[in-house]
Amino acid sequence: MKKREFLTLSSVVALYIMTGCGGDSNDTSTYQGDTKDVSLPIPELLEPRVEGGVKHFDLRLKETKHKFFNNIETETFAINGTYLGPTIKIENTDEVSINFTNHLNESTTMHGHGMHVPPSMDGGPHQVINSGKSWSARYRVNQKACTNWYHPHLMGKTADHVYKGLAGLIIIEDDESRALDLPKRYGIDDIPLVLQDRKFDSSGQMDYSPTLREVMRGYIGDTFITNGAIKPTFEAEAKEIRFRVLNGSNSTVYELGFSDNRTFKQIATDNSFLETPVSLNRVTLSPGERAEIVVDLSNDFGANLTLLEYRYSKIFLKIDINKQAATTTSLPNTLTTLDKLNPIDAVRTRSFTLSGMMGSFEINGKSMNINRIDETMKLDAIEIWEVKNNMMVDHNFHIHATHFMIIQRDGSALNVAENEKGYKDVVYIPANKSVKFIVKMTDYTDENTPYMYHCHFLEHEDRGMMGQFIVS
Ligand code: C2O
Ligand code: CU
Ligand code: CU
Repeated sequence: MKKREFLTLSSVVALYIMTGCGGDSNDTSTYQGDTKDVSLPIPELLEPRVEGGVKHFDLRLKETKHKFFNNIETETFAINGTYLGPTIKIENTDEVSINFTNHLNESTTMHGHGMHVPPSMDGGPHQVINSGKSWSARYRVNQKACTNWYHPHLMGKTADHVYKGLAGLIIIEDDESRALDLPKRYGIDDIPLVLQDRKFDSSGQMDYSPTLREVMRGYIGDTFITNGAIKPTFEAEAKEIRFRVLNGSNSTVYELGFSDNRTFKQIATDNSFLETPVSLNRVTLSPGERAEIVVDLSNDFGANLTLLEYRYSKIFLKIDINKQAATTTSLPNTLTTLDKLNPIDAVRTRSFTLSGMMGSFEINGKSMNINRIDETMKLDAIEIWEVKNNMMVDHNFHIHATHFMIIQRDGSALNVAENEKGYKDVVYIPANKSVKFIVKMTDYTDENTPYMYHCHFLEHEDRGMMGQFIVS
């Protein structure tokens, strides 16, 4: 009897997935307004105010309007500007205070994704910023150079708030990154790219209304945007160009490459440089993941190409190589040395199974409960986490406050790609696949305030695919 009920339910789910029952918004009309040729917007580098040795960054969250299209103003949420937020550039060991003031008409939070900080400074679901209030993430930067980001994390509202435009980059530099001969002129040869996709309704407004099918499979827009612009153009110097790429989408996996299929080098993963650059002609990023890549345009003066998304055949960026190089750089062969934890030293293995049906999601059979602590980790104890995706849809897995290293995919170390061998904080787990990673929590304990682990497909996270852990 039990078994029969189960079968019935899963066949209903399968039906939903396969047929898209419940309405697919492909049949609603999407705005087809003109998008004039725009140049690539570069998020402003926010100047800190230095007080008593602390770098203060002031960010204002507000409801505003942004021009994605020529003659239409689209309602957005933004930080300081009209869509997304400024870039915060900080150095390892800096004392910083990142101050958020919430001028929205609703509560939110601001999480430092990838930041190694105490739980009370994490900006997760427990650090709510009510409308009209401020909250500061104050800490000493304590990690290697990388590209992180900040975004809301309010229970049940993360997807909606990110979709409307709340997100920005945090760039961390250290002695090592400064010494390397890499492109580092922000906005000139060191280019941030926040990649997203959106749906606009017939009046050019952002349409956030996922159907059950879209909740399961991903709320995938038909308009792809880069730093808040549709198919913008970047005018490049004929030299090596570094792109700091963030998949800032809600739930779309991007497979990126250049229109001429050229080879580029990946130099960094989520939380660190790779030890040596890895040659690729495609890089896959699931939501929340970052990759820094370097593409050599030295011999392309006068040419143009595009940065493409290959799964959905969309253009993210047009590149016009129409400037002479003001300086040159030459990508080094060694970028960093990474501390590698040895699985033999692991004190335990934790297993996590991702599952769900009918628009609700679970980890180990439980939906997120903000009043429940799911796991307790010991400070400095090395652990292996095994995460299994038991569903026919893709997921990923993210841990707050630390990085990990992937040691196996589907039971074998051989399945871990060279460009995934840096420090990571999000790992892509396609349908019915599994990963194992090694992790250690260092520096911060708090008996009362948890960190989160979750799927970073925001529709899944908001519907329960999240858990909480304490470090003691
Ligand atoms: Cu981007 Cu809980 O994180
Ligand atoms: Cu995070
Ligand atoms: Cu998921």
